Amino acid sequence: MFHEYRSVVGDGDQAVLYCTPESMYPITVAAGKVFNNKYGSFHHDDMIGVRYGSKVVSHDGRGFVYVLHPTPALWTQIVPHRTQILYLPDISFISLYLDLRPGKVVIESGTGSGSFSHSIARTVAPNGHLYTFEYHEQRAATAQREFVEHKLTDVVTIEHRDVLANGFGKSGIADAVFLDLPAPWDAVAAAKEALRSTTIGRICSFSPCIEQVQRTVLALDEHGFSEIRMFECLAKDHEVRTVPLPDIAEAIGGNKVSFRPAKGDRRKRRRDEEPAAPGASDDPGEGGVLVSKPVNAARGHTSYLTFAILAPGPRSP
Ligand SMILES: C[S@@+](CC[C@H](N)C(=O)[O-])C[C@H]1O[C@@H](n2cnc3c(N)ncnc32)[C@H](O)[C@@H]1O
Repeated sequence: MFHEYRSVVGDGDQAVLYCTPESMYPITVAAGKVFNNKYGSFHHDDMIGVRYGSKVVSHDGRGFVYVLHPTPALWTQIVPHRTQILYLPDISFISLYLDLRPGKVVIESGTGSGSFSHSIARTVAPNGHLYTFEYHEQRAATAQREFVEHKLTDVVTIEHRDVLANGFGKSGIADAVFLDLPAPWDAVAAAKEALRSTTIGRICSFSPCIEQVQRTVLALDEHGFSEIRMFECLAKDHEVRTVPLPDIAEAIGGNKVSFRPAKGDRRKRRRDEEPAAPGASDDPGEGGVLVSKPVNAARGHTSYLTFAILAPGPRSP
């Protein structure tokens, strides 16, 4: 389901119920089951047979949800967090720089909540493979269960393993290695061993602290990696809003500036959003001007991305 598309909702499908951008729920569609939330009761029988993207109305007719086809991008927004996870800006940037595409073999550690694993799996499918390693036993088991439910086991193999102590147990098979570990420098030798010797191998390490970057860069250099580069990916969301326009003549004349009377703007504001300006309106005809505004002025740092390549050739330790 995550790497194959179908247009009609079927019994047994994984689907995402979309209520608002902040409330989406993963479900396994099953005849006879009911999904309940504050918007109402939604019978799975009403979903089976409709096209993905359809609106399904609650049984009392007052609420509705959209039934969406699952994608890795949606999963990243709703995945139950067992750990810190990778978000879409980093996922897309890393996928591009690691040159991930169908047929590629990728090694990842740790699996964590499986946010990035889902995107890698979809990208390398149908004939590539992701080997992902996680040393926390319960996290590995939960991720394995999700890979089964999401029908990804033909492209993902998860192993419960301490890769810092025991390496990946793979030799010369990978096109790319992705590390999201507390001590990535200790996994660089194992990454080198796992990369193919006949083509360019690529590595990325995702670390929140610059000291981790420094140690990883030294290890990469020591093990013969080249083109070592580091990036920080910061995202800025925009949304379309109407803001009030002051009366320019009054402003120039030094008078108290007036705004058109407040009307509308009944949209619920996010907690981190600035309060409504006087006279703000969601209706562009109400004396305001329609603008695109960043939701958060500056989103916090997630991690540094350190990339390097390993040229083809014999692998000396
Ligand atoms: C931040 S999480 C990874 C999140 C993941 N990238 C995602 O997008 O969901 C880091 C994971 O690395 C695992 N880990 C830490 N040390 C490890 C080791 N030596 N071997 C394997 N996994 C390890 C942790 O248990 C944790 O689940």
